[in-house]
Amino acid sequence: MVNLPKGTKDVLPKDSYKWQYLEKTARKVAGIFGALEIRTPTFEHTEVFLRGVGNTTDIVNKEMYTFLDKGERSITLKPEGTAGVARAFVENGLSNLPLPAKLYYITPCFRYERPQAGRLREFHQFGIEFIGSKDAGIDAEVILLAKSFFDELGIKNLTLYINSIGCKECRKNYQAALREYLKANYDSLCDLCKERYHTNPMRILDCKNPECKKITAGAPKILDYLCDDCKDHFEKVKSLLSLANVEYQIDAGIVRGLDYYTKTVFEFVSNNIGAQGTVCGGGRYDDLLEQFGGNNMPGIGFAVGLERLLLLMENAGVLIPNSNAIDLYIANIGEKEYEKAFVIAKDLRDKGYAVEIDHMGRGIKSQFKFADKIKAKYVGVIGEDELSRGVIKLKNMASGEEKDVLTQNIEEEIR
Ligand code: HAM
Repeated sequence: MVNLPKGTKDVLPKDSYKWQYLEKTARKVAGIFGALEIRTPTFEHTEVFLRGVGNTTDIVNKEMYTFLDKGERSITLKPEGTAGVARAFVENGLSNLPLPAKLYYITPCFRYERPQAGRLREFHQFGIEFIGSKDAGIDAEVILLAKSFFDELGIKNLTLYINSIGCKECRKNYQAALREYLKANYDSLCDLCKERYHTNPMRILDCKNPECKKITAGAPKILDYLCDDCKDHFEKVKSLLSLANVEYQIDAGIVRGLDYYTKTVFEFVSNNIGAQGTVCGGGRYDDLLEQFGGNNMPGIGFAVGLERLLLLMENAGVLIPNSNAIDLYIANIGEKEYEKAFVIAKDLRDKGYAVEIDHMGRGIKSQFKFADKIKAKYVGVIGEDELSRGVIKLKNMASGEEKDVLTQNIEEEIR
């Protein structure tokens, strides 16, 4: 037997309705906010992620599925959605569309990480990118969109953490202050953080190593280093969230694992799915598009990890409706009865009803058992007697009520 690769999952027929429900809800909520779908390739030239995600990040340094194709080009499976959207936005001249451009996507992503609950090597994101406005109102709207998605799914108990990591200018001053603070404890940092000290010290704030955590506990806070413009921006985001009655906590430790962020960053975190509790992460990226040769156009977005979301919903017992139910199962025995059932099934399917009949030569009892297993809403029986009277014996499986119904009236009954 050949097994699936580590960190990947099959979605089996018994579970696919859950994915369809998540995707349908994502599309619905994105639509309510005026977003349209964008689909970009599953793989890109590696450079897209070097420029976009940034070459001091864990994603680029350790986690990308990169290979040479047969034409010796370096290709990478997308580790996230934003860089590809930014590339496509510039390449297709989407800045000529009415702005802000409101885009969404549902996409597989690939990261070579150590698999654990909620962390896979192939996972799926529902992502949003609103491009073209630097207004703080769009930050608040993007956060509200994520919140609406969770509300629509009936998910409670997520905590929204927000922070501002400022613009290039604020960060220059902050990084200098942070290096100065960390200098005294440099030798106690983990090896990775020693590297980060030189390349991107803010990433040290994200390190899970207990020793590094202890060191960074008293580190200077980025919020104390924001320029006036970034400070005003963050104040406005906060006041709009409050106006919309959205609860949030400020967490100066959120720096996010990708290089493109500026100003607002945020995460929605659950405490009931273990260590990988961040179901949604996002933020503003005002300097990303120019990396792809575009006009300097601001943007903001987020991505929700759908596997984590499902885990969270299952752990919290949130109901996921199954819309794949069968409306009617027609049990039958005998050649003529089968033909009648076959024709009724065809006519009702033509009208959009989900109808099943037996193709396995089962006895009547096991046909009932099967109907029960597939959760048919109604079961109809056609035996010799029913056939001669032009009726079907129809049972409502929820109420248990049973009655004879003329075959031409079945639709009225099961509607
Ligand atoms: P990210 O924080 O790297 O951000 O990922 C977003 C979400 O994807 C995470 O919160 C998590 O739910 C899910 N995720 C990440 N890695 C894995 C994994 N290995 N297994 C399962 N789920 C995972 C981004 O990707 C940004 N592109 C988000 C964004 C869009 N920022 C602006 N626009």
